[in-house]
Amino acid sequence: MRLPWLEKLKYLNLRKQLSLILTIIFVGGIALSASIIAAMMNVKAQNEISLQAQILLETTDAVRDYTNNQITPYLQQDSQGLFLPQTIPSYSAREVFEKFRGNQDRKDYFYKEATLNPTNLRDKADSFETDLINQFRRETSTENLIGFRSIADNKLFYIARPLAITDSSCLQCHSTPEAAPKSMIERYGKDNGFGWKLNEIVTARMIYVPANKVLQTARQSFIRAISVIVAIFAITIFILNWWLNRYIVRPLNRMSKTAEAVSQGHIEAEFEENSQDEVRRYDEVGRLAKAFGLMQTSLKISINKLEEFATKLRNLDSSQ
Ligand code: HEC
Repeated sequence: MRLPWLEKLKYLNLRKQLSLILTIIFVGGIALSASIIAAMMNVKAQNEISLQAQILLETTDAVRDYTNNQITPYLQQDSQGLFLPQTIPSYSAREVFEKFRGNQDRKDYFYKEATLNPTNLRDKADSFETDLINQFRRETSTENLIGFRSIADNKLFYIARPLAITDSSCLQCHSTPEAAPKSMIERYGKDNGFGWKLNEIVTARMIYVPANKVLQTARQSFIRAISVIVAIFAITIFILNWWLNRYIVRPLNRMSKTAEAVSQGHIEAEFEENSQDEVRRYDEVGRLAKAFGLMQTSLKISINKLEEFATKLRNLDSSQ
């Protein structure tokens, strides 16, 4: 098969051919390395954020556990007496997390026990979180859901874990207002947070981690890596071009000029002088230059002999 554009390549000089090939390699190489590096950086960034989120979620787990096992049993709760929110695992996990968020650098981290029908309306699941809870209800074997979402220009990574009511003691405060401590009702009202059922998934415990910073760092590393690759390619192209010009193209040009001069009768054309460098070289160009020199010398000898012979003939002619 004959490709017309391939035919055209024949008319390009060596430097242009090399530049064309290098440009193709350059563009292809950069595109390939960019896609590989981008994928690697993304995975790394995501792993980093995901790890942060997981550690935070485990920490809130630990706080809930601690409250449940060590605080609640020691603080008496009876329906007539004083209700202490500090004994509620959900409350303590939230409070500890708020302390953690107190630092300016961590204000974009969030912990939420997103609940369809919460006692504290602050915990009301938004539509995105409601979808996650419904997904947990459908796919009961799912332990975690992770992903990204944007809230007010903030790109956040989230990890969600389902919470089911596995203990009937929970229902004291979450089944009917009548069963719950009075002082709790006074504080939270009787409209929310009731009607939960045993073994029902009511909540998605959510950790949100700001992703912008990590993704930005990944982008910067990506740009740095690509710049280095571009620089290496550019230097390579520059050096190869210089080398081709200096050691191949220029010597060949000099030789072909000399050959043209010789062909036009300037048998003494100064090839040797112009191309001392080439003759001293031992590579292909050097061998070609030497061979050319030898050919020129034998041409000179033959021409001299021819001239001598012609002179003799002329002398013979005139003496007759
Ligand atoms: C003594 C009453 C009481 C008991 C027992 C109790 N809770 Fe709660 N629960 C509350 C109160 C009050 C809140 C709201 C706390 C706040 O202001 O953050 C709450 C909040 C929650 C929340 C956060 C969502 C929301 O409704 O605001 C979850 C999830 C939760 N409880 C689950 C449980 C589970 C699971 C158990 C059993 C292990 C349990 N609760 C036992 C009173 C109770």
